[in-house]
Parts: sequence; C-alpha cells; structure tokens
Amino acid sequence: MGATIVGCGKALPKLKVSNDDLSQIVDTSDEWIVKRTGIHERRIAVEESSTDLAVTAAAAALGLQGVEGVECVSWRFEGASAAPVDPASIDLVVCMTISSDSVIPSQAGMVKMRLGLENAVAFDLNAACTGCVYGLSVAESMMRASAADSGAHNALRRVLVVAAERLSRLTDWTDRATCVLFGDGAGAVLLDWNEECPGIRSSFMKNTDDPEGFLALGNVLAAGEFPFGENAYELPEGMNGFVQMRGREVFKFATSAMREAIEAVLERAGMRADEVDCFVPHQANERIISHVARKMGLPLELFQISIGGCGNTSASSALMALCDAYASGKIAAGDKVVLAGFGGGLTSGAVLFEA
Ligand code: UT7
Repeated sequence: MGATIVGCGKALPKLKVSNDDLSQIVDTSDEWIVKRTGIHERRIAVEESSTDLAVTAAAAALGLQGVEGVECVSWRFEGASAAPVDPASIDLVVCMTISSDSVIPSQAGMVKMRLGLENAVAFDLNAACTGCVYGLSVAESMMRASAADSGAHNALRRVLVVAAERLSRLTDWTDRATCVLFGDGAGAVLLDWNEECPGIRSSFMKNTDDPEGFLALGNVLAAGEFPFGENAYELPEGMNGFVQMRGREVFKFATSAMREAIEAVLERAGMRADEVDCFVPHQANERIISHVARKMGLPLELFQISIGGCGNTSASSALMALCDAYASGKIAAGDKVVLAGFGGGLTSGAVLFEA
C-alpha cells in the first residue's frame, strides 16, 4: 500500500521568449545558452498570474477545466476521457513555491478556493528548486500516518501536490548569469492512497548550509526603514531582492547532491540503479543531468529532459518533467521511477516510486 500517482498536470504561460530575444536585452547568444544549458526558449507569464498557472496544472491532474487560454498537458491513470475527479474528494493541497502572488492566502489556499476543493486543508511549502521532492515526501508521510490511524479526523486519502513559479518577477533582467536560465510554469500531481500498490517507496531530504550565498534571494520586505529603531535585518551586501547565484559553485553542489540523493532512495528501497526505468531530475541544466548519468554509469535515455522548451522553473520543474514523461509514454504502469532535485537552501532530495 502507498501514495500512488494517478494524475499529472503541467501549465505554461503563453509568451515564448527565445535565446535570440534575450540577446536583445543582455550580452548573450543562442549558441552560449544552448551549449552551456540546453535551453532554447522559456515561457514568461505576462497575462497569467502564478495562481492561474497553479490552478490550471492542478485542474489538468484532476481532469477539470483550467483557466481559459493557459496551455496545459494532462495525464491520468484512468485515461484522458475518464470522468473528472470530484473536487470534494480532495483532502489536502500542498503547494511548493517561492513566487506566489500572495503570501496570505497561500498559493495552496488559492488553488483550493478556485477549484472548489471544499474539504481540503491547504498550505504552502518552500524548499526552492527541491520543492517537488519535499512536497511529495511530506504529502506521502501525512497520508501514511493518516492511514495508520483509523480514528483520524482528517483522513488523507487523496492529495494534490502542486508547484507553481513565476520566477520572471524575481529575475534581474540585467544579469546575464541568471536571467537566461529561468522560466515560468506549474506542475501538479494527484496522489491516491492505494491498498494494492506500493506507490512512493522511499524518499530522502537534505539541507546543506549556504553561508556564502551560492544561491540567494533576499526578502526586501524584511529590510529597510522601521519606525521602532534600528532594523535588526539588512539585506547582505549585493543582495537586491532578485535571485542571485554563483553558477559554478551551484553546479558542483548540484552534481554531487543529486547523485547522493538518488543513491540514498535506492538504498532505502533496497534497489540498484539499473533497476530504475526512468529518472526525472530537476531541470536546471542539461549538462548537470548528463554529468550525473555519466558518473552513475547510466544511459542518458533513462533521464527525462524537458529543459529545452521551458528553462529552469524551480519547484515546478521536476513535476512538469514528470508530466511530460507520463504523457509521452516514457513511464508505464509498474515502472520504478526516481524524481530527484537540488536547489537553493541548499536543499536536495529524491523520491522513488512505483508507477
Ligand atoms: O535550480 C537552481 C540551481 N541552479 C543551477 O543548478 C545552475 C548551476 N550552474 C549552471 O548551470 C552553470 O554554472 C551556468 C549555466 C549558470 C553557467 O555555466 P558555466 O559553464 O558554469 O559558465 P561560467 O559561469 O563558468 O561562465 C563562463 C563564461 C564567463 O566568462 P569568462 O569569465 O570565461 O570570460 C561568463 O562571464 O561565460 C560567461 N557568461 C555568459 N556568456 C554569455 C555567463 N553567463 C553568460 C551568458 N551569455 N548568459
């Protein structure tokens, strides 16, 4: 028995921004971006809010209608024509984001309200780009605890795990080292507690201190003028309320952290890497993915690569890639799948599940 994925959704904003478009804004080129990252274009949310993206991805996972005009991909275990999931049957919504439209209500609360998930408890979770791993792991733990407690008031049998990012609002569009990397988008997964299927079999989460700020996003609201004396917090020098990154250092962290996380979930499930049918990594850089595959002696074809058309969408990235893998038939029923991530915090982790 376990928390089993029965639906996936992905949502993309309308505006496509190519590498050539970016070379009009900063000193860069299509050749540099493709060679160093594998990114060809990204989507930027201009007409769409973060909530629109989250709602559309979640709706796609449930077989419901999303926001009109927002592009989406949907995969459902019972097939595309199966009846939509009853919104009242959703017990919990966990939403991972660092770029929600509002802090209160939470992004998850907005999804609950907009989709009429009347019985759901909803909260947000921030683990930067590793959000999808943390979100799946937290949801699975809560479902398992609820299943073990027969008298539980809040039985959690059906849970939506959603990630939505509008990083374009947190990007310094004059900084070529970061602005070419990120994009906007949302992903969602519907988990059902299934007595027959193992579903999520193991997970691993880790935080590594980042005292030098290899990857940082200062909160401008926490700093600045204050009527009650000296503000205890000032943004560290150089921080400006946009995502800042020391690319080479993060690259080095990413390759070892992702490998460590994958090996940890394999060990916890008592499996070898060559028994895995599909790896779904965080999509930050195609070179990071191929580096990990090479170091682990695994064929790159086992890894889902979706970064080319959407860039790095932080917490959403691996859930969007997972939706692509299901929708394209790369993941079939019974397959063993590892979803792995790394990111700001510094966070890292992985989840191993049976499809
Ligand atoms: O999800 C969050 C986690 N983020 C990541 O995982 C990102 C991890 N890091 C990376 O993916 C890579 O480090 C980057 C793609 C960010 C950069 O690639 P790199 O191969 O590490 O390049 P670099 O930073 O070592 O820079 C190489 C050169 C530098 O010029 P010099 O010093 O060699 O003359 C940069 O100034 O490339 C230059 N450069 C650029 N040139 C054209 C940096 N950004 C650009 C750009 N266009 N956009």
